[in-house]
Amino acid sequence: MSTKILAVVGTRPEAIKMAPVILALRNEPWADLRVLATAQHRQMLDQVFSWFGIDADIDLNIMRPRQSLPQLTARLMTGLDEVLEREEPAAVLAQGDTTSVMTTALGCFYRNIPFGHVEAGLRSGDLASPFPEEANRVVAGMFARWHFAPTEQAKQNLLAASISEDDIDVTGNTVIDALLETSRRDPDIGIELDSEKPLVLITAHRRENFGRPFEQVCAALSDLARRNPGIQFLYPVHPNPNVREIAYRTLSNLANFILCEPLDYASFVAAMKRALFIISDSGGVQEEAPALATPVLVLREETERPEAVQAGVVKLVGTDHGRIVAEAQDLIDDPDTRAAMALGISPFGDGNAAVRIVSRLRAHFAGKND
Ligand code: UD1
Ligand code: UDP
Repeated sequence: MSTKILAVVGTRPEAIKMAPVILALRNEPWADLRVLATAQHRQMLDQVFSWFGIDADIDLNIMRPRQSLPQLTARLMTGLDEVLEREEPAAVLAQGDTTSVMTTALGCFYRNIPFGHVEAGLRSGDLASPFPEEANRVVAGMFARWHFAPTEQAKQNLLAASISEDDIDVTGNTVIDALLETSRRDPDIGIELDSEKPLVLITAHRRENFGRPFEQVCAALSDLARRNPGIQFLYPVHPNPNVREIAYRTLSNLANFILCEPLDYASFVAAMKRALFIISDSGGVQEEAPALATPVLVLREETERPEAVQAGVVKLVGTDHGRIVAEAQDLIDDPDTRAAMALGISPFGDGNAAVRIVSRLRAHFAGKND
């Protein structure tokens, strides 16, 4: 008899990072895989599922415009629990640190269902930043039966939180699996760009940056665009209204600044490859860009992904206007500064993370030693 495994996916980055695990589990004869989309994100989740050819078996269709964290948490908890009660999975898997993941871990605890946490052990050490993701990670880690840590550093964080070493596997990050597979297909950006002009790529969405910090970021981006008419700036804007409103108000009138809807994953990978460098507060981008030898300036003061900072391939620049302009201008002007960051070092994995995760589950469920 096959074992029912439920993979829960809520947002864009979870879909990208769970896709390799879902695709690998589909090929396992012992596993009866069900994909549950909470649809905490709607359009951005659908974009990723479409690229990887994934159909959700169950869709909670949770997203509401301008959803608050308490409303989101309550709807997720109720919807997820109904599925857990009905489906009675042998194990549940979820990835990362969103509200979908936190409620999944807690919901599994309430129903005594083993939970496997993909991308376990990341810590910034500050519950306020990233908010609320650091708290979500801690909660997910508390209730996980299997901790799939992307790096040795993440494993150490889990050991420091008194997690048993037997329950931790260092697998690499599944985002590198997704990235290498996508990059191999040689995707196109799908946006008309001037092939003669260098490209700077931008993304931003962190909650703790909303308001004044994000106003400063946009003012810095506007300054950079005015100072550098020979560079084109491409910014696929996150649909969160707190981001959209400021981004469009501040940046839409600049001739060399392209604001657009979120790019599908393949197009975004093509844009990351093409970019001179990236300015971003995204977690996933900090992991992907180093593998493509593209430098990243991170719009944060700390990161739970210190491996890339230590390797010198990403740099923390915070949200201060002057600092962002100075660091970006240095990368634009100085090829040596760029070369020093464009090393092609990938501290987050080798593209085989999903295989390792599935091996561990197979060993458990197909009867071998756990
Ligand atoms: C969420 C996660 C964050 C993750 C990010 C990835 C939480 C609390 N936050 O932040 O950890 O890094 O996703 O992008 O789990 N919206 C749309 N269409 C979409 C997606 C979002 O319109 O496809 C709009 C809606 O108005 C929605 C709002 O964005 O209410 C916020 O979405 P939400 O998932 O609550 O927060 P994010 O900022 O996207
Ligand atoms: N991404 C994408 N299209 C875009 C911007 C980003 O497909 O227009 C991808 C990116 O390659 C990365 C992921 O989305 O894999 C990051 O998602 P996001 O920044 O929303 O969340 P985070 O990683 O910060 O949780």
